[in-house]
Amino acid sequence: PEWTTKQRYMPYASYSQEYQTQLIQAQRTSQYHLSYHIQPESGLLNDPNGFSFFNGKWQLFYQNFPYGAVHGLKSWQHVTSSDLTHWSAPSLALQPHAPYTTNGVYSGSALPIGDRLFLMYTGNVRGEDGTRKSTQLGAWMAADGTITELDQPLIAEPPAGYTAHFRDPQIVHVDDQYYAVIGAQRQDLVGEILVYQAPQPEGPWSLIGPLDWQQGDLGYMMECPNIAFVDGKVVILFCPQGLARSRFNYQNIYPNTYVIADAIDWTSGRLVNPGQLQTVDAGFDSYATQVVNGPDAQAYAVSWMGLPEIGYPTDAEGWQGCLSLIKRLTIKDNQLYQEPIVQSLLGNHFEPLHDTLKLQEVLRFDLETDTTGEIRLGNADEALQLNWTADTLTVDRTQAGIAFGETYGTTRTITWSKGSHQLELYLDHSTFELFVDGGQQVLSGRIFPRQKQAWTVSAPEQVRVTGQRLKTM
Ligand code: FRU
Repeated sequence: PEWTTKQRYMPYASYSQEYQTQLIQAQRTSQYHLSYHIQPESGLLNDPNGFSFFNGKWQLFYQNFPYGAVHGLKSWQHVTSSDLTHWSAPSLALQPHAPYTTNGVYSGSALPIGDRLFLMYTGNVRGEDGTRKSTQLGAWMAADGTITELDQPLIAEPPAGYTAHFRDPQIVHVDDQYYAVIGAQRQDLVGEILVYQAPQPEGPWSLIGPLDWQQGDLGYMMECPNIAFVDGKVVILFCPQGLARSRFNYQNIYPNTYVIADAIDWTSGRLVNPGQLQTVDAGFDSYATQVVNGPDAQAYAVSWMGLPEIGYPTDAEGWQGCLSLIKRLTIKDNQLYQEPIVQSLLGNHFEPLHDTLKLQEVLRFDLETDTTGEIRLGNADEALQLNWTADTLTVDRTQAGIAFGETYGTTRTITWSKGSHQLELYLDHSTFELFVDGGQQVLSGRIFPRQKQAWTVSAPEQVRVTGQRLKTM
């Protein structure tokens, strides 16, 4: 059944304990329950938020509507980890309330400052007529996890000339100043990333101007902007909505993109020597990537394995969405490389061409130079397929289970250079994450097999196939 707007925004207190217990139970016992990915305990999960290292641990939050598989009244759930692989059970960290988050605590970021973690995020308020009000808010989290929200917004409204589509602040600390990048929309409906500066996290925050990335018009709204420092370069990640498909090749409803620059001039917001727009993930389900520079100065990324405005088969069970594996980023030849952090998940080696799959393993395929072929994972009725030629690789989920998101196609194709190739495919019951040539390209997606018991692997004879089982987080 459809949820009315009124139902989506009902206060959490209006749901009974019994109803929530049922939802949690349905999620836990779902055949699509994940073993080593972050997933909602109940309801819908979307963007990763507040990814940071604080108090000796990795801190990660995510957008959640706990009471159904819809984009309802959003909160921040909080999980922690010491190895980026095993995560604690979630706890509700920021909950909606009047006057600034009445209709949702929207996405944002976190930055350790002194012995506290500063959270910067968007408050969402909707009028009776659906009109939107967005404010940028702040809160402090102490080492014991207690959160104290600031009474007043950090930024009370969008600047003149911009609409109320103003959200998802990421705060960074550079040269004794605080900066925030915020997704925004000009009144002429062009999306921009606004750069703000403040001497202290609590403000005053002043507008420097739009990020000048020399890319032209990339659509009507830029969601979830993020700045990361990788191998001496600056990387801007963001999700442009309404980007012309003639300008950039993508099939998903909205792409998940990045630009690499030599530096950012913080006095003007100008990127120095920015490169081409590129895709973070060429697969089916990837959005709102958030990157943090860890204590080792390396950059770590996590994405929502889902997309806005798409229904998923688990909606019928009352839940939706999960986060990706955490990936370490590096840059080679002006391109991001992504390496999943999985060391402590790796289990027994097995023979993928002889043993059946549990859909909880990593498979490695070595493809010889300039061959063509097909790898099939599945049973007689259902399969995920990888097809390649000397120039392309296609991931085909047309027959991989319950159909969804078909409006945007059921295959994804990347191009690659001639030569041998290495594929690394992580399976987790209802997800796959394919790393091509050491993470030079990544294709991720959800799959919902009806019958996953008898899945096997077939591949042409000349392909070397190895596999390892993966442990449950
Ligand atoms: C992106 C997004 C953000 C917003 C959040 C709300 O998926 O729309 O722009 O802050 O989700 O849940």
